Amino acid sequence: AWTSGNIIDDAIARVRAQVGTGKVLLGLSGGVDSSVVAALLHKAIGPQLTCVFVDTGLLRLHEGDAVMELFANNLGVKVIRANAEERFLSQLEGVSDPEAKRKIIGKAFIDVFEEEAGKLKDVDFLAQGTIYPDVIESAGAKTGKAHVIKSHHNVGGLPAHMRMQLVEPLRELFKDEVRTIGVELGLPREMVYRHPFPGPGLGVRILGAVTKASADTLRKADHIFMEELRRSGWYDKTSQAFAVFLPVKSVGVTGDGRRYEPVIALRAVQTIDFMTAHWAHLPYDLLDVCSRRIVNEVAGVSRVVYDISGKPPATIEWE
Ligand code: XMP
Repeated sequence: AWTSGNIIDDAIARVRAQVGTGKVLLGLSGGVDSSVVAALLHKAIGPQLTCVFVDTGLLRLHEGDAVMELFANNLGVKVIRANAEERFLSQLEGVSDPEAKRKIIGKAFIDVFEEEAGKLKDVDFLAQGTIYPDVIESAGAKTGKAHVIKSHHNVGGLPAHMRMQLVEPLRELFKDEVRTIGVELGLPREMVYRHPFPGPGLGVRILGAVTKASADTLRKADHIFMEELRRSGWYDKTSQAFAVFLPVKSVGVTGDGRRYEPVIALRAVQTIDFMTAHWAHLPYDLLDVCSRRIVNEVAGVSRVVYDISGKPPATIEWE
């Protein structure tokens, strides 16, 4: 019979049989799939696992610290944190085309990951959080942005010079099964039931050229939106929600006088498959609190708008 306990025991037995006493490397992103793989492998092979977490500087507020706190400090997983913010920001400098930004971020990510991997000795296996839908989608060669990136990061195999065997313990599981075993393995519910976050991160939520200042502003605004969604119970009623940094200036007026600053857009959608989506009809009172808090607590924001576009025609992300 299907129980999460069976699935975990079975996966652990298979991993042990596959890797023996070998060493395993895992790219930990903080997303659900790689996090569950980390927890599972830690249980299966303990110190034979080393994770590399690339901090791109394009993550949400405190995200890097939270990943280290949970995996390294609480669970005792070996995690190497590569702080690559400066590298990502300098490579993105002045680049405003969305696909160009995606390429730069994807390449920098692989470069940093390979550099860190190269410092480790005698690694025999590379673990990945490939899940069953990734396997099907790669086989079908769909062309959605997410599929391209996912297949690039998760399924495409290894660069020729990294001769490691793949360990993919979630390869036969659907997302809901992955979440169930994640909770069973002791990961916090909020992390296991998180909204998806795109690989390029805030890089595609800051429209146009990315700067450190815009990333910092967006992080704070996004964090307020998440806090209020969770507080009101709307986080779990939406499929994906986030703030977007618009590099247009608009005039505002405060106690100190006139200001002329960028705009923050909020987006929240409900969807089953992310191929089509409705904008979420968030309560006006909730939007009101978010707007007030963002303008008052985040310096350099003049105004907050709410995105009322469905997909199609608008994509979920703004870039
Ligand atoms: P769109 O914006 O195409 O997004 O409606 C559909 C889903 O895909 C995610 N998305 C991405 N995920 N790399 C990713 O890993 C990307 O480049 C990317 N672009 C969009 C988006 O967040 C949504 O869940």
